[in-house]
Amino acid sequence: MSEQVTFDDLLHEEREFAPSKEFAEQAIVSDDSLYKQSEKDPLAFWEKEARELEWFAPWKEVMEWTPPHVKWFTNGRINLSHNCLDRHLKTWRRNKAAIIWEGENNEIKTFTYQQLHTDVCKFANAMKSLGVTKGTRVAIYMAMVPEAAIAMLACARIGAIHSVVFGGFSPESLSDRINDAQAELLITSDGGWRRGNIVPLKNEADKALENTPSIKNVVIVKRPHGEPFPCRVKDGRDHWYHRLMEEASADCPATELDSEDPLYTLYTSGTTGKPKGIVHTTGGYSVGTYATTKYVFDLKDEDIYWCTADVGWVTGHSYIVYGPLQCGATVLMYEGAPNYPENDRFWEIIERHRVSVFYTAPTAIRAFMKWGHQLPAKHDLSSLRLLGSVGEPINPEAWMWYHKHIGGGNCPIVDTWWQTETGSIMITTLPGYGKAKPGYAGVPFPGIQATILDEDGNEVESGSGLLAVTHPWPSMLRTIWGDDERFVNTYFSKWNKKIYFPGDGAKRDEKGNFMILGRVDDVLNVSGHRIGTMEVESALVDHHLVAEAAVVGRKHDLKGQAVVAFVTLKARATMSDAIKDELKKHVATKIGAIARPEEIIFAADLPKTRSGKIMRRLLRDIADGNALGDTTTLADPSVVEMVREQYEEKYGD
Ligand code: WT7
Repeated sequence: MSEQVTFDDLLHEEREFAPSKEFAEQAIVSDDSLYKQSEKDPLAFWEKEARELEWFAPWKEVMEWTPPHVKWFTNGRINLSHNCLDRHLKTWRRNKAAIIWEGENNEIKTFTYQQLHTDVCKFANAMKSLGVTKGTRVAIYMAMVPEAAIAMLACARIGAIHSVVFGGFSPESLSDRINDAQAELLITSDGGWRRGNIVPLKNEADKALENTPSIKNVVIVKRPHGEPFPCRVKDGRDHWYHRLMEEASADCPATELDSEDPLYTLYTSGTTGKPKGIVHTTGGYSVGTYATTKYVFDLKDEDIYWCTADVGWVTGHSYIVYGPLQCGATVLMYEGAPNYPENDRFWEIIERHRVSVFYTAPTAIRAFMKWGHQLPAKHDLSSLRLLGSVGEPINPEAWMWYHKHIGGGNCPIVDTWWQTETGSIMITTLPGYGKAKPGYAGVPFPGIQATILDEDGNEVESGSGLLAVTHPWPSMLRTIWGDDERFVNTYFSKWNKKIYFPGDGAKRDEKGNFMILGRVDDVLNVSGHRIGTMEVESALVDHHLVAEAAVVGRKHDLKGQAVVAFVTLKARATMSDAIKDELKKHVATKIGAIARPEEIIFAADLPKTRSGKIMRRLLRDIADGNALGDTTTLADPSVVEMVREQYEEKYGD
C-alpha cells in the first residue's frame, strides 16, 4: 500500500479536501449562510427546520430550559411515523421506494412509501389488538429485516415506546433491558442470516423470556429462508407476524402525540455495570434527525442512500429509519455481513443498486483496506457521490484509502461525531461547503454549540481537553429511563447543570475543526460499539472460578480497541489456556459476542494502590505492551508486588 499517507505526513501537510465545484453546485448547502443564521439565533434555526415537518398543533415555546432538563417545541403535537410516511403520500413520493432491502441470500424486496405505510398501519393495529397503547414499552430483538423498521414505525405511530436490542446481544442482556423498561411486548423473528448461518433469534429470546414477567405477548416474524427454521411457539403468548398482518386493518391514523412524549429508549453502556436506557422524545428528535440527514447527507430524491449500521444501534434508528424516511429518501437496507459470500459484498451491493450516498464505520473501512483495494476496483462504484463515517475516530490512513478507493478521489467524506445520547449528528463538515481534514470530524452542526474545556471548566485554547456541549439541542436525551439522578450525575455534573459532558476527549485546530480523541471514561469503543469495562468485569466475576477481574482497552488495528481482561482466579483453580477460553466464552454468553475479550491475562492478584484502587493506567500500559515485556509474569505474586512499588514511585498513590 505505497499510496498510504501516514499520520505524520498529514500533520505536516495539513491537507484539506474541499468539495468539487460540481458537488458544491448541486449541494443543499454550499455556503456559510446556515452557520451564520444559526450563530445569530440557534432557536430560530431549529424552528425553521421544525416548520418543514407536519404538526397537528403548533408549539408554544421553541425551548423551555430548566437546567439540566429541557423541553423542545412545547405543547406541539406531532407524530414521527406520520412525518416518515403519511406526509409523503400526498406527493408523487407515495410510489417512490422507501426501503430497498437485500437479504444475505440475495433476495431483494422493495417497499414504496405507500406499501410501507400500509404495513406499518396494519402492524400498529396488530399491536393494539395485543393490548399495546400509548406509553407501552415494546422490545424489538431482530435482525436487519424490513419488519424491524416496520415495528419501530408502528410503535412511533401509536406512541408505544420501543426499545430495540441489538440481535447480537445475549439472552441475559435482552432480559435485563426488558426488565428495566418493563416491556410488555417482544417482537423478534425465528431466525436471521449472518455469514451463511442462521442466527436463532427466537430460541435465544426464549431463554430471556424465562426471566421477564412483564412480557405479555411475543410476535415472531418468519424470516423466509428456504427451509422452515424450527422455533417454539407458546400458545396464547406467541403470535406469528404474518398471521396478525392477515387479519389487521390498514386503517390506523397516527396518534397526535405531545412533542415531549417519549419516542424510544435505547440502552447504552456506561461506567457502571448497568446499561443506561437513553430516553428520546418525539418532537425534538424528529427535528434533529430530519435536519441533520438533509444537510449532512445532502439527500436528493434521486439518491440511493445506504447506511451499513444495524437497527440495534442509534445509527440505525436515526440514519436508517427516522432521518432518511422523514426526508423521503430511498433507503437501502442490507441484512448480512460485509464478507459474505465474498469480501466484496458491499461493492457488489453499491454497483447493483447504484448507491449514491454511503455511510459506514472506520472499523469496516480498516477491514476493507486489509482485504485490498483490488476488490472495490472490480466493481463500478461510479454512482457514489458522498461518503460518511461514524462510530469512532477515523485514522487518516483509513480516511485517505476511503477517499481514493471507494470515493474515486471525488466524493466528499463527512466524518460525523455524535452519540446515542445526542440522537443526531453534532460535529461534522457539511459536504457542499466544508473543507474536510482527515482525522478531524469538523465543526459543530448549525444550531449546536460545542467547545473544549479543562477539568475546571476553563476553555482550552490549544492542546487537548474535554469535549463539552454548552447549549441544549432538540434531539438530546431527556433522561435515563427510571434513573433521572444518574442522568444528572453522568452528563450534567462535570462543570455545571447547563453543560453536557459527552465523555470524549478532543482538540481543535486554528480553524475550529474538532479532532475527537476517544473516551475519557471507563468505556471502550470496540469496532464502533460502546462497551463498559464494568459490564465485562461483572460478567467475568460471575464465573465460579474468578475471584477478581479488571478490564481495559488495547489499541487494535481493525477494531480500534480490543477488550483485554486481567483475571485473578480463585485458589482452587489452576491457570490454563482452557480456562482462558472458557472465560472468553462466558463473557460472550453473558453479554454478547461483541464483548468477548481478545486476551485474558492471569494475575496473581490485581495490582492496586494502597487505597485499593486498581492501577488501570498500568494495566493499560501492560495490555498495550508498553510495560513489563512479558505479561505472563503477572501471574507471579512477587512480580505483582514489584510492579506495584514501581508504579507508585512513578505515578504516586
Ligand atoms: C461514542 C458514541 C454515533 C453513533 C455510533 C456510536 C465515539 C462516534 C465518532 C466520530 C470519533 C466517534 C465517541 C462517542 N464516536 N462517532 N465520528 N469520531 N469518535 O454511538 O455507541 O453512543 O457511541 O462513539 O467516543 O462518545 P455510541
